[in-house]
Amino acid sequence: VWLQVSPFPVLCLSFPPPCKHFPASAPGCCRYGERVGVPGKTRAPSAHRAVLTLAGDPTAMTVTWTTFDLAGSIVEFGPEPGGAFTASAQGHASRFVDGGWLRRSMFIHRVTLRGLAPGQRYAYRCGSPLGWSRPYSFRALPNGTDWSPRLAVFGDMGNINPQSLPRLQHDTQQGMYDAILHVGRCHCNAMVGDAFMRKIEPVAASVPYMTCPGNHEEKYNFSNYRARFSMPGDTEGLWYSWDIGPAHIISFSTEVYFYLNYGRHLVQEQYQWLERDLQEATRPDRRRRHPWIITMGHRPMYCSNNDHDDCTEHESIVRQGLPQHLYGLEDLFYKYGVDLELWAHEHSYERLWPVYNYQVYNGSAESPYTNPRAPAHIITGSAGCKERLDPFVPKPREWSALRIEDYGYTRLQIVNRSHIRLEQVSDDQVWHGRRTDPQRPPRPARSDPYLG
Ligand SMILES: *[C@@H]1O[C@H](CO)[C@@H](O)[C@H](O)[C@H]1NC(C)=O
Ligand SMILES: *[C@@H]1O[C@H](CO)[C@@H](O)[C@H](O)[C@H]1NC(C)=O
Ligand SMILES: *[C@@H]1O[C@H](CO)[C@@H](O)[C@H](O)[C@H]1NC(C)=O
Ligand SMILES: *[C@@H]1O[C@H](CO)[C@@H](O)[C@H](O)[C@H]1NC(C)=O
Repeated sequence: VWLQVSPFPVLCLSFPPPCKHFPASAPGCCRYGERVGVPGKTRAPSAHRAVLTLAGDPTAMTVTWTTFDLAGSIVEFGPEPGGAFTASAQGHASRFVDGGWLRRSMFIHRVTLRGLAPGQRYAYRCGSPLGWSRPYSFRALPNGTDWSPRLAVFGDMGNINPQSLPRLQHDTQQGMYDAILHVGRCHCNAMVGDAFMRKIEPVAASVPYMTCPGNHEEKYNFSNYRARFSMPGDTEGLWYSWDIGPAHIISFSTEVYFYLNYGRHLVQEQYQWLERDLQEATRPDRRRRHPWIITMGHRPMYCSNNDHDDCTEHESIVRQGLPQHLYGLEDLFYKYGVDLELWAHEHSYERLWPVYNYQVYNGSAESPYTNPRAPAHIITGSAGCKERLDPFVPKPREWSALRIEDYGYTRLQIVNRSHIRLEQVSDDQVWHGRRTDPQRPPRPARSDPYLG
């Protein structure tokens, strides 16, 4: 639902992209700048683009959405099946003015639902009596650490050419995931952001959608990113951590190293926060409950792509830090025994052997990922965006275990305290009867079924 009945006339400031192809008089469409409707019988933007995020413990979930008019911030919800919204939660709205020349203004609503029963499915809708979203549903996370979270992981999925979105939506509807990790580059800036948020809504309104900032979010000091998502903690979502089952997941910004114009202090603050978080996560009682430490950041330390990105440099900034090796992350993550590092930015899939300082630290020759002596890395940035895929250098280095130049995304299951399962899905195949990219011949299905 984009526009709904409201008591005020509304200035049309949104182009739902489908309307681009319809006359402005089509239902739900309007011409930019036009006042739509007459008092008493008008159309106002209603709640839309709900995004769910975890609020820190399994019994809480935050719903974030936008409206173009000031309206209430209410979520009505109830257990499913049941069919009735038996509870309601109130939150707050804040006005957000985009830094672009249009000075687009919108209201971002945030409501946290508390007291959810672990594992229970809920139906909900958000908005206010002026206009409600369509109904959505989600499942509250199970409690405790003795369960196997299933995650979808990808980065660089854009508004244009989001090759993996249809399958991801399908998977989500099948209830295949407990959370999504979007490893940066969310296209959540301004206009493009609106279109992108609408595309991902079927996924993001149904499972917790956890993100980290990517390079395309840097505009106006990441303000759209910070406004549109509500990540746990009080750092405005640039860095935060959370627990899911037996894992502790740390999300951080590699972008603080590249946009020093927004403040060098951010590099230091984040590094100090990371160190404190890792100290806490590696306390013996914590690590026993959450033995897996997984990081997600947008730009990788290593890659074997054929471009001039940071990860192709021997002294990559993310790995070694700012000049004079300040705040490099490789030593920090190695020191605290991070198990798995998830990255994107390169539009391809690459898995590394356990690696530290360019040396491979296989657990053993037969089982490289069993008790590895350094973190393993996965670079999964090929969910589809307008720059298409990034090619690889012909001869990979010895730390590179597998490279796939297909569109796709990663399924990550944290099976138990000792096992993680990863699977790489290829979306270069015929999907729902339609080949996703007619320029490329279909390839046989390939995946990365490594178990370690
Ligand atoms: C979740 O588990 C913890 C520890 O086992 C327990 O103290 C808490 O009451 C549980 N919460 C719910 C909502 O079941
Ligand atoms: C950008 O935002 C951060 C907070 O996320 C703030 O600490 C920093 O000073 C801001 N930088 C500029 C140049 O406004
Ligand atoms: C690591 O293990 C893999 C798989 O057994 C093997 O191909 C690779 O050569 C090993 N690397 C080193 C440096 O031992
Ligand atoms: C953990 O999962 C693996 C793979 O499914 C299984 O072989 C192993 O027995 C499990 N460990 C425990 C303690 O359940």
